Amino acid sequence: MRHPLPFTAPALLAPMEGVTEPCFRELVLARNPPTHLGGTFTEFVRVVDHPVPKTVLRRHLGARGELATRAARRNDETTAAVGLQLMGSDLVAVEATAAHAAELGVALLDLNFGCPARGATSTCAGSALLRTPQRVAELVRTAVRGVQDRLPVTAKIRAGYDDDANLEQLARAAEDGGASLLTVHCRTRAEGYRSDAVDWSRIERAVRAVSIPVCGNGGVDSHADIERMRMRTGAAFAMIGRGALRDPWIFCGREVDFDTARAFLAEYFDTLVTRGSFAPAGALARSKQLVHYFRAGGVVESLGGPKAWLAETDPTRFRARLAVAPSPVRDETTGVGK
Ligand SMILES: Cc1cc2nc3c(=O)[nH]c(=O)nc-3n(C[C@H](O)[C@H](O)[C@H](O)COP(=O)(O)O)c2cc1C
Repeated sequence: MRHPLPFTAPALLAPMEGVTEPCFRELVLARNPPTHLGGTFTEFVRVVDHPVPKTVLRRHLGARGELATRAARRNDETTAAVGLQLMGSDLVAVEATAAHAAELGVALLDLNFGCPARGATSTCAGSALLRTPQRVAELVRTAVRGVQDRLPVTAKIRAGYDDDANLEQLARAAEDGGASLLTVHCRTRAEGYRSDAVDWSRIERAVRAVSIPVCGNGGVDSHADIERMRMRTGAAFAMIGRGALRDPWIFCGREVDFDTARAFLAEYFDTLVTRGSFAPAGALARSKQLVHYFRAGGVVESLGGPKAWLAETDPTRFRARLAVAPSPVRDETTGVGK
């Protein structure tokens, strides 16, 4: 039996390693109501040859993960769900880790079939599995068995490994394995994270190939793109990655001013230290990863541009930039920051 999904809102925040730990997810969830943002995902949790301990899964889920899980069990759609993403190919370890997730009461378990990094492909995990659709089906089936019908299992694929020739076969493999939702990142592994035009027709092909709901991903870069992509492809959901790092309000479509955007970056840094238990150097590294993309409110551009921020090596100085930064003087005639 396919498990019902714990969200109904049209958009989801993509799993992003190095970014979507609990503090970032919490800040984004706080700014986008669950009517717009249905759920978020952990960064991928790598499963090698041993089950991942529950303590590690709990750390990835964070407090909100637990909370959202409880709400999902009550079918309370006012709280967005947090999905736990696993990446691995060892069937025994994946099944046992899925069982741990079920025991913790996770709302949704997602399997990663898209990571193009050498660390993943060299261990035949992530996008390496796109070369063998039957392995995709087998892993999904194994995870479904592991969760013992207590939560939905979902799969996130790319359009293919070198090309998109196997796309339909991959989509059906996930469905045959028992996935409740299929996310299709419309770039192939070979296309990496290219930011030139994406091919949403690949999402439409996946929608036609399966009867489970499809979540389209790739190049959804504005609030309007959420509906545009869903209308063009027939996808039930839209997943947003870098668009949400550029503008964390992308789900609700609110345009924020300089001070609001600055406060987001400041709160992110502070929360990483106070709640995320990151050392200041770790908070700096994570904040810089975000600043690399962040364009909301014109903060990064106004205060020296991304290069100046990324060159900062001292956490205290980095935080001070956010504390004292005044709103840029506005030219009242044009409304443009001087
Ligand atoms: C910094 C970064 C980290 C990522 N980490 C993950 C990950 O942990 N799991 C995953 O399935 N995809 C990961 N992705 C891929 C995104 O989830 C998404 O599929 C991709 O960025 C395409 O969506 P976009 O065009 O909206 O950015 C990552 C992407 C980025 C940019």
